Amino acid sequence: MTSQRLTVPNWKDRDWYSSQKHTLTHSLSDWLLEENSMTRRCEQYCQKVTVQPQFEGYVSAESIGNERAELPEDQRYWIREIFLFGDTIPWIWARTIVPERTLNEQLLTLGDVPLGRYLFSHCALTRDYIQVSLCDGLWGRRSRLRLSGNPLLLTEIFLPASPLY
Ligand code: PHB
Repeated sequence: MTSQRLTVPNWKDRDWYSSQKHTLTHSLSDWLLEENSMTRRCEQYCQKVTVQPQFEGYVSAESIGNERAELPEDQRYWIREIFLFGDTIPWIWARTIVPERTLNEQLLTLGDVPLGRYLFSHCALTRDYIQVSLCDGLWGRRSRLRLSGNPLLLTEIFLPASPLY
């Protein structure tokens, strides 16, 4: 599908702000504070959305850096990093961290199925907060979600060609 080189945006050195504190234009807040599936939203702007996982696997608590403060302590964390394409163009880079306690078979075996397909079909999905961030000209958002009360952290960075801009 893609022969293009995919560049992972800077997601580590970002400062995250509560969405209330960051002054957002109407159009930006409409994207960044989207409460429903971002995949479904992107589908309105292209023929086909596809998800290409870059990494899926377990990591230790030590290796998750400042994201650790947003999640309860656990033995291991499941990391999923993907690029979302609108047709053939990379639009979003996303990283999900799931404490082992939150994990289930569906999350472990998503592969190229967009995370939102699972999350937004889950009847016990809640959101604690959305934070926003601007770094290197790229907007990002970070959501702590809960599945039946168990948290996971989802970071999404909107790449230059994404319809948010
Ligand atoms: C994912 O499949 O991991 C995924 C897809 C779309 C997003 C975020 C994460 O906006």
